[in-house]
Amino acid sequence: MQNSGMDRNRYILETHNLLKRFGGLVAVNNVSLKVERNKVTMLMGPNGAGKSTFVNVCTGVLKPDGGKVIFDGKDITGYPPHEVYRLGFVRTFQIPEPFMGLTVLENVLVALKNPGEHPLKAPIKMFWIKEEEKNIERAFEILESVGLDNQWDQVASSLGAGQLKMLEVARALATDAKLIALDEPIGGTDPKYAGDILSYIRGLLDKWDVTFLLIEHRIDIALPYADYVYVMDRGTLIAEGLPDEVANNPKVIEVYIGE
Ligand SMILES: Nc1ncnc2c1ncn2[C@@H]1O[C@H](COP(=O)(O)OP(=O)(O)OP(=O)(O)O)[C@@H](O)[C@H]1O
Ligand SMILES: [Mg+2]
Repeated sequence: MQNSGMDRNRYILETHNLLKRFGGLVAVNNVSLKVERNKVTMLMGPNGAGKSTFVNVCTGVLKPDGGKVIFDGKDITGYPPHEVYRLGFVRTFQIPEPFMGLTVLENVLVALKNPGEHPLKAPIKMFWIKEEEKNIERAFEILESVGLDNQWDQVASSLGAGQLKMLEVARALATDAKLIALDEPIGGTDPKYAGDILSYIRGLLDKWDVTFLLIEHRIDIALPYADYVYVMDRGTLIAEGLPDEVANNPKVIEVYIGE
């Protein structure tokens, strides 16, 4: 499968008949979907639909019982989470290092992928000062694009729920993630701030070579910010399409009215 240069596929993620059972419960039932590069794809559905389980299986947190996960042209089915993360498919909570006691800037700095200390350069201070400067510059660039540059010296624990979500996104960007999966990015945030979060996420597509898979429960707020939408219910994909197609799909309306 092609995965480089001009031939890289249009879809950064594809699943084929992905299957996950918990005992007798089929949490993810033969789900096949595609996530287009440099777009926001939304996976929606009511409580218990299997959205989080789907992402957990894709990112290696859970082992699938069947099907395939293709990321960036590579079959990553059953890869352990750290491998999936290293390849650039990042589920925000996977990013290592605790962070509540650190400042916003420090949080991004620890997430930055460093090429590793060069054994010869390390003892020479000049080199690592240059490296530090570059990192700080890049961290600020990332913070600016998520709207947190003015909070750079605040401790993470002092941020609001929405700002913490954006800090998670900033940290994912710092790892050079190609695909960022966010599980309910607007969950627990003030509905007024929810639109801002989603707008910031959309804005990142122009600046960084990144793709988003957003898991959302709240169809009313989130739908306008998606390029393409999949809807799951009780483990199965019940609809897909452009946001307004999905919003008018009778099966989707029924599932959400039933809530
Ligand atoms: N580790 C587990 N063991 C057993 N059952 C599980 C486990 N994780 C999830 N489930 C079940 O699998 C189904 C799908 O759950 P999942 O958390 O993936 O749904 P969801 O779409 O993310 O829902 P929500 O909107 O509430 O986050 C549910 O019936 C849930 O109870
Ligand atoms: Mg969930």
